[in-house]
Amino acid sequence: MFISGQSHKEYYKKAKQTMNHRLTFPSSFVWGVATSSYQIEGATTKDGRGPSIWDTFCATPGKISDQTNGAIACDHYHLWEQDLDLIQSLGFKAYRFSVAWPRILPTGTSTVNQKGLDFYDRLVDGLLERDIQPFCTLYHWDLPQTLEDQGGWVSREVVEAFVQYADIVTRRLGDRVTAYATLNEPWCSAYLGYTQGEHAPGYTDTAMGLQAAHHLLLAHGAALPVMRANAPNAQHGIVVNLTPMYPHSDSAEDVALAQQINGFVNRWYLDPLFLGNYPEEAWEAYGEHVPQTQDGDLAIMSAPLDFLGVNYYSRGLVAYDESEPWPHAQHIKLEDAEYTDMGWEVFPEGLTNLLVQIHNDYILPPIYITENGAAYPDELNDDQVHDQARTHYYETHLQAVQNAMQQGVDVRGYFAWSLMDNFEWAFGYTKRFGIVYVDYETQARIPKDSAKWFKELLKT
Ligand code: FCB
Repeated sequence: MFISGQSHKEYYKKAKQTMNHRLTFPSSFVWGVATSSYQIEGATTKDGRGPSIWDTFCATPGKISDQTNGAIACDHYHLWEQDLDLIQSLGFKAYRFSVAWPRILPTGTSTVNQKGLDFYDRLVDGLLERDIQPFCTLYHWDLPQTLEDQGGWVSREVVEAFVQYADIVTRRLGDRVTAYATLNEPWCSAYLGYTQGEHAPGYTDTAMGLQAAHHLLLAHGAALPVMRANAPNAQHGIVVNLTPMYPHSDSAEDVALAQQINGFVNRWYLDPLFLGNYPEEAWEAYGEHVPQTQDGDLAIMSAPLDFLGVNYYSRGLVAYDESEPWPHAQHIKLEDAEYTDMGWEVFPEGLTNLLVQIHNDYILPPIYITENGAAYPDELNDDQVHDQARTHYYETHLQAVQNAMQQGVDVRGYFAWSLMDNFEWAFGYTKRFGIVYVDYETQARIPKDSAKWFKELLKT
């Protein structure tokens, strides 16, 4: 996760050479597409759904770049059948979706909303009818607002609430679901939500973020035994976002900084999950901000997993710069690198290096790449979107996965983010990540060239 000593020029030269290699994956490899509830469902007040922190956040002026929200989004709540047909028609055999907690428990705890459960029940059956494996994420950021009013992820009580929620969902959907992930990207929930404030609920407090991260992983670990009891034949795991950190130069400062940030963003989650402790250096660096923990917490957090979901988009490239606020990181943009519409560098080799590194550093369960993809400013012409850059992104990143597998990493599947364009959080509808274009006026779904590329690939 922390890599030094390779220049980007070398990398681009190599990437070009490997481009023509064939993609060959085992026949058991799982091919899927991913989405999340708040980003696609819409129908935020329908059938008894309660408000989530994202409804509140979107209603706060200045938080979402185009002042939109998820009230309609892709209207998937109503169009789900045609969306499942679409997944099937593209040849994908797995679908990663998330359940909206406030549809199941509109106030976070106690009263169960049957209509909410019914929706996911139909969805799962609809997937199975189409021979698509359901991969269900329980928490992809839409915390019931009532729970946030009681302190959200900063308050330890949320742990019990999550366990109850996980119990209800896994009891209803049971073994029909292939794999359950407790959380999606706890770093984003904790850091972006409570420390940096770009995401709901929008706090800007380091200690709050670290406390939230602790309770997220604790809730994850506490829910696992309940989930296993309810769905003994399903796989149970977690999805983390990992960003391999690279120093901009070989200077001692840059190298130490990349290492330190690796401790904050990657190891802060992986060490508790797989080693049963927090990374010591990062713990010391956080000083007075470290979370309050109780005896036994880390044992709960490090419960064995059936799989690890890895979301990868780009690397971090940092230079030490005294004039930046602590930890004095300047995020470097290279002149000769490619960037997506998010401003994220296209760096497939980071994925190989990351996978190999975590494979060496930890004893891991099988891995799924649960998200990977790119936003580009697509143009729709004559019902076509020629998104060559996105296809190239997918091709090179699949190559990167294959390279890691050849080096012994046990990767079992790959999910493209995303099935279709959707509500991209603080960016609203301004960023398109789909392999299928969504016309938000008509809700038409139009497969882009990248979707057609996948379809061809999956035929072989
Ligand atoms: C990930 C999120 C996902 C999507 C992509 C672009 O961090 O899990 O919901 O927004 O980024």
